[in-house]
Amino acid sequence: MKSLLNEKAVEISVPGTRVFANKVAVLSDGINLTLGEPDFPTPEPIKEAAIAAIRENKTGYSHNAGLQELRESVSSFFRDEYGFYYNPASEVLITTGASEAIDSTFRAILREGDEVILPAPIYSGYEPVIHLAGAKPVYLDTSRTGFLPDPAALESLITGRTKAVLLNYPSNPTGVTLEKELMDEIVAVLARHDVFIISDEIYSQNTYGVPHTSFASYPQIREKLILAHGLSKSHSMTGWRVGFLLGPEYLIEHILKVHLSNSICVSLPSQHAAIEALDHCRTVPAMMNLEYTKRRDFVHGRLLEMGLDVKLPSGAFYLFPSIRSTGLSSFEFAEQLLEQQHVAVVPGSSFTGFGEGFIRISYATSMNNLIAAMDRMEDFLNQVNLGQSVETSK
Ligand SMILES: Cc1ncc(COP(=O)(O)O)c(C=O)c1O
Repeated sequence: MKSLLNEKAVEISVPGTRVFANKVAVLSDGINLTLGEPDFPTPEPIKEAAIAAIRENKTGYSHNAGLQELRESVSSFFRDEYGFYYNPASEVLITTGASEAIDSTFRAILREGDEVILPAPIYSGYEPVIHLAGAKPVYLDTSRTGFLPDPAALESLITGRTKAVLLNYPSNPTGVTLEKELMDEIVAVLARHDVFIISDEIYSQNTYGVPHTSFASYPQIREKLILAHGLSKSHSMTGWRVGFLLGPEYLIEHILKVHLSNSICVSLPSQHAAIEALDHCRTVPAMMNLEYTKRRDFVHGRLLEMGLDVKLPSGAFYLFPSIRSTGLSSFEFAEQLLEQQHVAVVPGSSFTGFGEGFIRISYATSMNNLIAAMDRMEDFLNQVNLGQSVETSK
């Protein structure tokens, strides 16, 4: 019977983040630095809003696009935070996380043989859904340009087969954000071509010292842009599964049909919780960011002291140091660090081949965990260096 399965589904591999998270979970003294979710509890008022919704029997289906009240909250939130307007009646869709937003978008726009350009290294969640839709990812190497997409290199990849360009800033896994000047240049390229732009800005509320500029704030690309977002990261709501899609009506109209066919609508108590988050808990991300900044600076400093080459990221909650000096592949590094020191990180190769030579460290965990993990990583690197010098003295 196995041969009857859709080979596209069979070919998908389990993300590297999960592999190492599962392995560390069974170690009693393990420290997990693979986490892609905030370690803070969901704020109380948000939980209370969901509890009240359940008590008031708000437990049925909503409009397929999401509660009108929530779409209005989403529209106001983006207008106030980033200065652009989408009509809640026709240009906003509430989805099961940003994940479903992106999947439904791809399924609405991609045809067999289409290509999607993605700057890499990049989050591993996109490739499987592009593949399932019959299309092909085309990666733009950013590993030699400070993880920033070079506009001319991006343009050189656009062909008649290119259907979309996916951008994810602040970036998972590198934590880099884009400066306005570079965004202007990228927008100039994208405005010249008939391609869709999917901008996954799920980490836009997690920036450190640099204000976020959204690709949705450029009117010249508005007609081809889909903005994917959600509350998982900003409000520590990963398990609530609330995401948003903002885009022009002619696109939302068709993506809505894909969305309603696979989800009908997002869980109603979660939608009520989301209204509370957007209307009354706007300062939550800033409070988390204060803590993230301390952790980022600490881990960054320790990695530099260990002699690793690492950029100071200004967004998301990841560091992406180079481990090339160890002579190990990123997978070997992650595997040996886990075996010897019970610390789990994600090999850079999980974020396409352009992530090889790097590891991803999440600092969405307590300072105590980070202190212990950095001590253990230092011991590990000392062992590796010792091994290297024995090898060379032979
Ligand atoms: C870049 C990026 N996009 C989307 C997601 C998924 O978000 P959601 O929980 O809203 O589905 C993640 C989760 O790690 C992510 O890192």
